[in-house]
Amino acid sequence: MTAAKKATGKKAKKKTNVKKIKPLKCTSLPGVHDILPGEQSYWQQARKVLSDEAEEYGFGRIDVPIMESESLFRHVHGETSELYEKETYCFKNRSRDDVVLRSDFTPAIARAYTENGMVDLRKPIKLFTIGHAFRHERVQAGRCREFVQANYDIFGEQDPVLDAQVIQIAHRVLQKLGIKNIQFHVNSVGTRESRAHYRELLTAYFESRRTKLPSKYRDMIDTDPMRIFEATDDKTMQVCSGAPQAIDHLDKESRDHFKNLLEYLDELDLPYMIDPALDRGINYYTQTIFEVFVIDKDGTRHALGGGGRYNDLVESLGGEPTPAIGFAFGVDRLVAEMRRLKAKAYMPPEPRVYLAQIGDLAKKKSLRIFSDIESAGILVAESFGRGNLKEQMEQATKMKVDIVVIVGQKEALDGTVILKDMHTGTQETITSDKVVCSVKDALKKTVKVSKIK
Ligand code: HAM
Repeated sequence: MTAAKKATGKKAKKKTNVKKIKPLKCTSLPGVHDILPGEQSYWQQARKVLSDEAEEYGFGRIDVPIMESESLFRHVHGETSELYEKETYCFKNRSRDDVVLRSDFTPAIARAYTENGMVDLRKPIKLFTIGHAFRHERVQAGRCREFVQANYDIFGEQDPVLDAQVIQIAHRVLQKLGIKNIQFHVNSVGTRESRAHYRELLTAYFESRRTKLPSKYRDMIDTDPMRIFEATDDKTMQVCSGAPQAIDHLDKESRDHFKNLLEYLDELDLPYMIDPALDRGINYYTQTIFEVFVIDKDGTRHALGGGGRYNDLVESLGGEPTPAIGFAFGVDRLVAEMRRLKAKAYMPPEPRVYLAQIGDLAKKKSLRIFSDIESAGILVAESFGRGNLKEQMEQATKMKVDIVVIVGQKEALDGTVILKDMHTGTQETITSDKVVCSVKDALKKTVKVSKIK
């Protein structure tokens, strides 16, 4: 008697009283979601196009941690920024360290660049990453608390041709994903100096209209006047509409940079417009900023991605002065748009071989045969859970495979398998150690047969 039989053959002992587990009904948290198997073909297509494009443009992959020290994000985004103050997930871990879940990748990528001495690599250094980000936002369509971002960042080059190149990449990704009706909005916020000067102008402007602003914005006049532009109420928006615009107060270097960028964009014939009101709401940008929108039939627009230059960020983290430019797509939003447009989804390669088995011994042998065929790079389908040959053959026919490898009880004992050509119906018995060679040969022949047909 085998050990397994002995184990199952034992008489049941006296029943022990096991406490019944009370089921816990659990749902996902607000603003986070599962990506179910049925949705994966769009996700897979988006991920493939995003990373293929990165490869084509010479970006190397980087992965940064999901968790970072809270001081990094506070320093980079600024304590009073909306993104840090309201949306960043901060917590103390069990060692009482202050930790954040990354709200975007740029602080972490700049940290990784500085910490790992990438400054010594040949410039420009192009980095691509894709992964989850977290923001504690008010949940609504297209705005989740956990979402996926794909980031393209270039370090070590100040030339505006790279600003144009990242916009070109964004455009190509959208074209390849079949997303139409897109528009780029571009603007320049100038260097840190011209930004500081602009901030003074803005503070003076809002100060002179203090009484016209709702009280919640009055406090921001001195702390972060740019944030007032994020208001959505009519009263504040009206005050904002008369405010000075950054683009009218650029230093010469930023003006020239912007002018050159626009010339490149014209040359590329990209759908763009200058948007002096574009601010991005992120503190680290210098000079170029841009956003890409998809425009609905009714004219409403939704941001799919955005980015800009951040020439001071690496230095602010203790690195050498390093110009940088980058952008990120929100992948959930790309996928939502692809689904809305019924765009092309990823089609996995289809298996040309099906492995059928009858009986327990055959099932055991089949595990090895399956692995041998797969290891030879041949995609093979199976349904080990089913023992009925008719059902398995029906499934193989449905899958339109070329070859079925059948392991019956006799074959399992003899160390053979049957190879059935699904086009001609012919079959032959071979020894199981020849299965890989025979399947390869048979597949070659079936290509010829299907070509002749
Ligand atoms: P961002 O504009 O904050 O930029 O985010 C980029 C994109 O991420 C947005 O356009 C949007 O598609 C997506 N996104 C942002 N928040 C959410 C959300 N709550 N739910 C779903 N999607 C969202 C940045 O994050 C910059 N770090 C981009 C960058 C890279 N700049 C330079 N390099």
